[in-house]
Amino acid sequence: MAFETIIVEIEDHIALIKLNRPDAMNALNTQLLGELCDALEDADGNDKVRCIIITGSDKAFAAGADIKEMSAMSYVDVFNINLFADANDRVSAIRKPIIAAVAGYALGGGCELAMLCDFIIAADTAKFGQPEINLGVIAGLGGSQRLTRFVGKSKSMDMNLTGRFMDAEEAERAGLVSRVVPAKKLIEEATGAAQKIAEKSQITAIAAKEVVNRSYELPLSEGMLFERRVFHSMFATEDQKEGMAAFLEKRAAQFRDK
Ligand code: HXC
Repeated sequence: MAFETIIVEIEDHIALIKLNRPDAMNALNTQLLGELCDALEDADGNDKVRCIIITGSDKAFAAGADIKEMSAMSYVDVFNINLFADANDRVSAIRKPIIAAVAGYALGGGCELAMLCDFIIAADTAKFGQPEINLGVIAGLGGSQRLTRFVGKSKSMDMNLTGRFMDAEEAERAGLVSRVVPAKKLIEEATGAAQKIAEKSQITAIAAKEVVNRSYELPLSEGMLFERRVFHSMFATEDQKEGMAAFLEKRAAQFRDK
């Protein structure tokens, strides 16, 4: 598929999707969000892909939704197109693991897109923020909901009310990102993590993603029940037999996604 606002490379079972609007700090306009969702769905349906990475440039993962595109829209316009609902739903529906590799600005919709991924690896240059309040709007793709679950109410309120940016170190301390690495090593580190995931049984990786994601939707007892049911179902796979046999035989497991 030919894209204009993103670059997709597939190598060694990893789809690397690079947001590519350098003149606009990778602002998320309709075209970019549409292309990104198409590329994610392609990767999800491609047997060669076992893990996905979304990244931006050194300067910006994405500096938010495209302000130029939104500025003249009315309430009725955004209501009728249900602005950003489609992107939220389509990215959330991807079954394969998605890593956000963030350098530079991840602001507004950029921070929200990173949080829509399964985990975030940040360069030491990363800056996260929900500065929508400076534009007379509020977060629209999870900045008031996912961010609060990740970093707690106090810090989320701080970010959403003052519009200040959080650097990579603070983001790691707060639990927003899983690791911080030197900017030059960002893609290497993200690719290394993706490679580790790609080596697992695909069935198990998708199950692990599903159960962790459900923890945000369910009360603990229901989440525990869901986890237990999925855990039990793993015993119906050949990969469970192989994984445990390989451990006992002191060899590497050869998973076959069965
Ligand atoms: C459109 C943007 C943009 C954006 C940057 N640009 N962010 N265009 N939408 N979100 C454009 C600038 O207009 C400029 O274009 C070029 O990118 C370079 O930006 P500068 O401002 O000149 O760079 P710099 O001084 O380094 O500042 C970088 C920055 C700043 C701190 C990231 O650009 C900034 O504050 N951007 C807006 C961040 C923001 O408010 N994001 C939230 C958006 S609302 P020209 O043509 O002038 O060179 C949102 C709603 C979420 O995300 C809803 C769900 C998706």
